[in-house]
Amino acid sequence: MRQHVNPLSRNFTQIERIPSLSEMFCDPKLNLHLDIGCAAGEFLFDLALDNSSWNYLGIEIRERLVKTAKLKVQEKEIKNLYFLFGNAYNILKDVQCKLIIKNIKSVSFNFPDPWFKKRHIKRRVIQPEFINFLSNFLQKGSLIFIKTDVKDLFDHMDCTLSSNLNFKKLEKNDFNYSDNFNPNQFKTSREKYVLFNQLDIFERVYIKI
Ligand SMILES: C[S@@+](CC[C@H](N)C(=O)[O-])C[C@H]1O[C@@H](n2cnc3c(N)ncnc32)[C@H](O)[C@@H]1O
Repeated sequence: MRQHVNPLSRNFTQIERIPSLSEMFCDPKLNLHLDIGCAAGEFLFDLALDNSSWNYLGIEIRERLVKTAKLKVQEKEIKNLYFLFGNAYNILKDVQCKLIIKNIKSVSFNFPDPWFKKRHIKRRVIQPEFINFLSNFLQKGSLIFIKTDVKDLFDHMDCTLSSNLNFKKLEKNDFNYSDNFNPNQFKTSREKYVLFNQLDIFERVYIKI
């Protein structure tokens, strides 16, 4: 399977119909967490099965992964987990998504594709326009989590988020993990690989003010 997909390709301009929250989840009123670039969704399966007081939504640009994840949700009859296929920014910009965004309590960007070459930096998922869009539509108090093993990518994401005056960095002491979408601190697939190989992890949490 192709590992890297160009998110700016015209193939991703058209998006699938976005269902309403009540079509996605059994209880649409639960807190909603969004994981952007969720790959096969293993992390979200762990979370959804462990934590029935949250709804989890994953967006992934590799269609095959999303199809397989959706089948697995049906087989396991999980009622608080949903997956959408496409470029995350194009999906969230869609009019049908505006109501969904209002319900989001937190968003994670876990180990996004680093796109090392200078001419490919615009393919990175965290871009000023996207963060500006999130800052306009997320409710005050919503959290954004970023995590990567690539220092240069971390600096790029941190600079983009810090440049937006609607987001403030949270210090570890100001933050209670037990209240958030991942109280048992499950690890993503990439994170397990990074930990196994004893690589550095750079992470930060921001709050919408
Ligand atoms: C390096 S993988 C990390 C997967 C997972 N978050 C983890 O930590 O194991 C990055 C994922 O983001 C997806 N992706 C990249 N750009 C995207 C975009 N614009 N919208 C949605 N998904 C994207 C890629 O297809 C890939 O599955």
